[in-house]
Amino acid sequence: MRKFLIAANWKMNMYRQEALELIRGVIEQTKLFPSVDIMVAPPFTVLETVNGEIQNTQIRLGAQDVFFEESGAYTGEISPGMILDAGCTYVIIGHSERRQYFHETDEIINKKVTAALKNHLIPILCVGETWEERKQGRTFLVLNQQILFGLQGIDNEKLSSIIVAYEPVWAIGTGKSATKEQIQEVHAYLRGVIKEFTSSNEMAFNIRILYGGSMNPKNAQEILSQKDVDGGLIGGASLNIDSFSSLVQIAE
Ligand code: G3H
Repeated sequence: MRKFLIAANWKMNMYRQEALELIRGVIEQTKLFPSVDIMVAPPFTVLETVNGEIQNTQIRLGAQDVFFEESGAYTGEISPGMILDAGCTYVIIGHSERRQYFHETDEIINKKVTAALKNHLIPILCVGETWEERKQGRTFLVLNQQILFGLQGIDNEKLSSIIVAYEPVWAIGTGKSATKEQIQEVHAYLRGVIKEFTSSNEMAFNIRILYGGSMNPKNAQEILSQKDVDGGLIGGASLNIDSFSSLVQIAE
């Protein structure tokens, strides 16, 4: 059976002191819910600070992005080995904000997923359509391409460790999540794409697919009860101790 993962993406928020307060509060309030996997992805600057706090807890560290080269003259970039060295288990790749503001293509995202897997990191591959694409009836086409290009050349053994996050761009940070029907429909579709891609029922059944986009303690119960939803990738609601801990509690 798949286990829920509640993943926090702090985005470009949290100075050191704020990060310490947030993670300490989350540790305190989530320790009673051990059956939920928890990931926290702080900015690079506080990875080590957060890592120092989460030792001996069920919380794992993630990075919000990674570059695909191992080392060298790439000013400003961070390699998979470096985030591993900083204590990361997970890495978010292909978030729509990276695609939109930093022009990341499926090709770049594919290189990042490949490099992360090579370094034994668990990639959380984000996919999602814009509102324009949904209105034009292109949702499934867009998602299909993002998955197929994003995972190109990756063998089944490596694929078994990846996580997919469905994040409709129009639901991110808007306070308006997708409906439970829309979410279940897309998650079931993505599982089907994975089945075709891997030619494996088992792989398709086991892959974890998270939902992200204005998920909060009010809508989480409904979203998490959909049969193909295996957790959430949380932005805004992960910046508050009570709301993030409530999400973990709901997933328990
Ligand atoms: O990575 C997280 C998602 O972008 C969701 O953000 O919960 O603020 O809508 P949000």
